[in-house]
Amino acid sequence: MAATKKEPVVVSGAGPLNAPLGGLLTWVDQRFPLVSQWKDHMSEYYAPKNFNFWYYFGSLALVILVLQIVTGIFLTMHYKPSAAEAFASVEYIMRDVPGGWLIRYMHSTGASAFFLVIYLHMFRGLLYGSYRAPRELIWIFGMVIYLALMAEAFFGYLLPWGQMSFWGAQVIINLFDALPIIGPDLSTWVRGDFVVGDATLNRFFAFHVIALPLAILGLVAAHILALHEVGSNNPDGVEIKEHKNEKGIPVDGIPFFPYYVVKDALGVAVFAAVFCAILFFAPEMGGYFLEYNNFVPADPLKTPSHIAPVWYFTPYYSILRAVTEDFIWVLRAGVVAYTLLILFTSRGCLSKLLAVAIAPVVLIAMGVIEAKVWGVVLMGVASMIFFLMPWLDKSPVKSIRYKGKLSRWALTIFTVVFLVLGYYGTQSVTPAGTLISQIGSLIYFAFFLLMPWYTQMEQTLPVPDRVTT
Ligand code: HEM
Repeated sequence: MAATKKEPVVVSGAGPLNAPLGGLLTWVDQRFPLVSQWKDHMSEYYAPKNFNFWYYFGSLALVILVLQIVTGIFLTMHYKPSAAEAFASVEYIMRDVPGGWLIRYMHSTGASAFFLVIYLHMFRGLLYGSYRAPRELIWIFGMVIYLALMAEAFFGYLLPWGQMSFWGAQVIINLFDALPIIGPDLSTWVRGDFVVGDATLNRFFAFHVIALPLAILGLVAAHILALHEVGSNNPDGVEIKEHKNEKGIPVDGIPFFPYYVVKDALGVAVFAAVFCAILFFAPEMGGYFLEYNNFVPADPLKTPSHIAPVWYFTPYYSILRAVTEDFIWVLRAGVVAYTLLILFTSRGCLSKLLAVAIAPVVLIAMGVIEAKVWGVVLMGVASMIFFLMPWLDKSPVKSIRYKGKLSRWALTIFTVVFLVLGYYGTQSVTPAGTLISQIGSLIYFAFFLLMPWYTQMEQTLPVPDRVTT
């Protein structure tokens, strides 16, 4: 069938296109919506003109995603996913494959860089209320990406088959053992064996190189489509779509291409310089990016004296270790206090009903199920509670710029606590460390669970009508 006739295309922002390029573009555009997509997502996507430092990290996350996929493909060309050969194949990549050391260090440093950038990207969301309506789905897609990234990193860490790979996977999979009834069978099913072994390595490899990267790519596409549907938030948290000129263009918006492409290019250049400095001078980063024990081949008969996950998991690892038998009493008191708070101060009938229904079940379960399981539960809840942000934040304003003192202090304390928990998660267990992790865990959850109250109680500042620069 002949393609429908279209006028020659004009790409805005690119100037007139002469033959043969213009001809080729017209030919493509008659068969594929190239120019309209370019306009929708680049040259006529109007982003607020007041983006600041915090808006570098979305595009950086994209760059690192590509970097991880490309370096991953090259690593897979030489890596052997079998318990007998994996460790030696990584050493072979490091020593014998031309440029292999560079590719491997790019991938391992890239993993830490990815999490650093994602944490900063998420922090920006918390600062400016980017999770609030109408951007709930952008946030939810982001959270699913975050969980998928954690799974991706966990699976990838087993592949070098070092001591930390082996014992890290052993500790985490053994956590399933603690679940009542299904626990032992579930952990055997996950491992594919009674101990972490060849079957485990093979399945982790399959998830790491194909299943999760595919899922993450799809999710990132959905994340950006959702963003471009509603438009970007900004440091003032005001909607630029509410003020449009006669052509329907937001007066406080500027085209993403070329303005933000140039801005993001600067971010990429600075990032590349820092990344290369780490890559060439400190790829192990004092044992934080590549743990020293992982340069020793996995030995199922020799447990390392100190097992800790990589830094980006350690806040949650601290929460896992904070839950001791004694701490369960504190948690019980917390459940009772929170239920009373809802009963006496909440206006919604549903929340009161839910509180009365759920609290007794939790309290009874706390008496029956051992502390270790609650550690696993709290660790899981801690990583997923961010999903609820759009509904927990009841402030009349979005951005921290106009929120009151309570929200500012809450976010500051939460950030410090997240870092402290992260630090103690890298350390061996000590009584002081456990106490600090327990206090930190309580503050961590209080930040979220008390949010509906403190965001409504405080005095907010007047929000400007238009963005400020
Ligand atoms: C592979 C991971 C990710 C990639 C590649 C990615 C990419 C992007 C890009 C390119 C943007 C637009 C530019 C910007 O606003 O900085 C964006 C915006 C956004 N992202 Fe992500 N993102 C990722 C993960 C996440 C995660 C884990 C979350 C939160 C849980 C998240 C939440 C958001 C939000 C709320 C926005 C809108 C921000 C605003 O308009 O103020 N993203 N993302």
